Amino acid sequence: MNIAIDGPAGAGKSTIARRVAKEKGYIYVDTGAMYRAIGLYFMNEGVDAENAAAVLEALAAIQVEIKYEAGEQQVYLNGKNVSKKIRQEAVGNMASKVATKQAVRDKLLDLQRNLAATQDVVMDGRDIGTFVLPNAELKIYLTASVDTRADRRYKELVEKHMPADLEEIKRDIEARDYQDMHREIAPLTQAEDAYYLDSSALTIDEVVAEIIRRIPQ
Ligand code: C5P
Repeated sequence: MNIAIDGPAGAGKSTIARRVAKEKGYIYVDTGAMYRAIGLYFMNEGVDAENAAAVLEALAAIQVEIKYEAGEQQVYLNGKNVSKKIRQEAVGNMASKVATKQAVRDKLLDLQRNLAATQDVVMDGRDIGTFVLPNAELKIYLTASVDTRADRRYKELVEKHMPADLEEIKRDIEARDYQDMHREIAPLTQAEDAYYLDSSALTIDEVVAEIIRRIPQ
């Protein structure tokens, strides 16, 4: 069973996907975390994402691995667990930038498809239903209004005692959506056979129940 959940930044994909996976006994695969790991490397090493040769050189030096510890996905960048570090907003923005590059997307595709080929997964991202898993048994396009998404992200950061500025988060979300929806390669768009789910007025429980109800028997 492959379930694909795509949607814009802060739509609650990871919370929802994690819950659906847990209730069904599937594996949750967060593909954004993989792009974030590459974004983190580019940030740390000062790689210019617009310099094609520098991008290729950096990618050759990068190894992204996914492991599961106590059922939770952990992302390793060159042998180091970076799962916490990659959650910063700046890393998310860099991830969106590097994700426009074909070579970056190519590097992660096999990793994503292999995870889905060998087990039941709920995979979230931007191009899962449209490109990574075109034959997924269930595809969800999960979205919410920009205000709702900014508000949720703000509360999430405050809870984690991380720096948060609501207006800045809103601007970042809008810029990231624009970049993700307008890039040339695998842009964020609803797959033709995806179910559109706006979670603005729904609780997490309601969204999870709606998705589980739609899983083919
Ligand atoms: O979902 P998350 O915010 O962690 O993703 C970070 C960035 O990685 C996104 O803004 C997007 O540019 C990129 N991404 C992507 N394709 C995916 C998952 C994430 O391009 N399947």
